[in-house]
Amino acid sequence: MTTTTSSLPGAPPADLDDLIAVESAAFLSRQPKSRVMYERACQSLAGGATSNWQIAEPQAVWLSHGTGSKVYDVDGTEYSDFHGGYGVSLAGHAHPAVVTAVSKRVRRGTHFAQPTSDAIVVAEELAQRFGLPQWRFANSGTEATMDAVHLMRAVTGRDLILKVEGCYHGHHDSVQVSVLPEESEVGPADRPLGVAGNSGIPAAIRNLVVVVGFNDLAAVERALTEHADRIAGMIVEPVMMNAGIIPPDDGYLAGLRDLLHAHGALLTFDEVKTGFTTGPGGVTALSGVTPDLVCLAKALGGGTPTAAIGGTSEVMSWIADGRYEQCGTFNGNPLTMAATRAVLTEVLVPEAYEHLERLRLRMQRGIEQVIAEHDLPWHVVTAGAKGCVTFLPDPIRNFRDFLGIDGRFGHAHWLVQHNGGVFLPPWGKVEQWLISVQHTEVDIDRFVDNLTNFASRVANI
Ligand SMILES: Cc1ncc(COP(=O)(O)O)c(C=O)c1O
Repeated sequence: MTTTTSSLPGAPPADLDDLIAVESAAFLSRQPKSRVMYERACQSLAGGATSNWQIAEPQAVWLSHGTGSKVYDVDGTEYSDFHGGYGVSLAGHAHPAVVTAVSKRVRRGTHFAQPTSDAIVVAEELAQRFGLPQWRFANSGTEATMDAVHLMRAVTGRDLILKVEGCYHGHHDSVQVSVLPEESEVGPADRPLGVAGNSGIPAAIRNLVVVVGFNDLAAVERALTEHADRIAGMIVEPVMMNAGIIPPDDGYLAGLRDLLHAHGALLTFDEVKTGFTTGPGGVTALSGVTPDLVCLAKALGGGTPTAAIGGTSEVMSWIADGRYEQCGTFNGNPLTMAATRAVLTEVLVPEAYEHLERLRLRMQRGIEQVIAEHDLPWHVVTAGAKGCVTFLPDPIRNFRDFLGIDGRFGHAHWLVQHNGGVFLPPWGKVEQWLISVQHTEVDIDRFVDNLTNFASRVANI
């Protein structure tokens, strides 16, 4: 096992592109085995990876294992893991409670396509945390938001949905609109154009999605009036977490619920990222705004692939009596339910949230100090276990503000952190860190030290 040494602040790079070139070279020279893996993988795995999001610049990092707050790459390097598998690893890696639960279950059979008792405990726990009485399970965030969109359409008998520009809700057709559009495509801020988020999305489906800006209640009201009796509902990340972190304005979430209900439409919170990481009952509990539907995934399963959808009795009655078929061979799979039960009842307990809050504060204060000492036009945003450095001076309120961030900062920061033994999600300015319940102050300080290195070099440009 080796640990990495961050490149020391020495001669300042001529500019940000030079800094990226220097760090990319260090990154590649540290990881020859990842290169070999990649080259072999290209023969049998499309693009040499198992998801397009695993393809990083300058090269995907192949991992061997993870334990506690650390992950290890195939070259033997240890990292403090703030990537958290895109927001999944809130429990950390190989948490003893999850290991025990999964080990016990695996010996008793892992799949029947019939319910097991753990599913009831999980549903009861979710009902209590999120204030919604009825639950179902799925296997990914994509499936959960797909069911939510189907349900909003089924219950209201309407086809249009409202979606926020810059929110990501997975890769099914209805939500692959205006996910990360280019500045040249977006149209006017008060009437964003619906831009296809992937190839293979029919225009007919795109035309069923009305796009609005985040924190813009007036746009929602106008859309509901202009498309009277045609909008089934709105899906929204209650704190945007696929464009850095963008919190809702005071009153925004309650305003959405009231407007939608006044027009006979429904509200879905996509808490795939925010659920559990922002608090035990996600933004739903923090804001006191209970939507008609909540989607959960990522941290829910403690590293096993599971998702949940919760709803009001009225909405979920459509599932209960079969008017909407919510189904899936692996739904409520015994292995994932055992892991999820352990996560909810043994890992994400009040003391764990106290620990996360102490680490959040240490991270926030450390970063604020670095920014102030180097007099840089940046700021830090945190939301529970999640956080990011925003490379702009002022708070951002929507996707249009986010477009103003120079993406090279996020990429350079990712490289410097990685070369300094801290693993962040590779998507630069889009993503955030995740602190797990197994992280310690040592992990936080490593991050802040690397940021100091980065800040001093950028300040010299
Ligand atoms: C807010 C949000 N919703 C849904 C999804 C889709 O989840 P999955 O990748 O498990 O399908 C993601 C994935 O990043 C997400 O961030």
